[in-house]
Amino acid sequence: MSDQRIVVLNGPNLNLLGAREREHYGGQTLGEVEERCRARAAALGFAIDFRQTNSEAELVGWIQELGDAAGLVINAAAYTHTSIAIHDALRLLACPVIEVHLSNIFARERFRARSYVAPVATGSISGLGATGYELAIEAIAALSAAGDGS
Ligand code: DQA
Repeated sequence: MSDQRIVVLNGPNLNLLGAREREHYGGQTLGEVEERCRARAAALGFAIDFRQTNSEAELVGWIQELGDAAGLVINAAAYTHTSIAIHDALRLLACPVIEVHLSNIFARERFRARSYVAPVATGSISGLGATGYELAIEAIAALSAAGDGS
């Protein structure tokens, strides 16, 4: 039985949101994205565990420690395109996993179109900015209500 906690993990350089490449990522800070996630989750009866790290090893550790979370929202940032370690950790999860990218990774450099997260995610959202995080939380709430976790 899962708990009412949704974990949101953010990878490298996302701590710089608001200052970083605003043409791709918008002007919102990560703190503002977190607030939107918390508000959306609260309205749906979920708590949010929101984290960011620049370390691949820390991301893998957090994925391994998800426990009975209702679901995972992950923006692995640049590790999306490189990390078999994150792919392998994600494939062991039983809960819904929603991959999120602020920018449309398919409309940028070719190397960004390859995601090692997508094949082990329940679904992916790309190019909708911070709204993508909120939609991912809604998807996890809907999947959990349906009770199928898939
Ligand atoms: C990103 C897209 C990645 O290609 C990039 O490395 C990021 C952010 C996004 O949210 O659009 O750091 O994941």
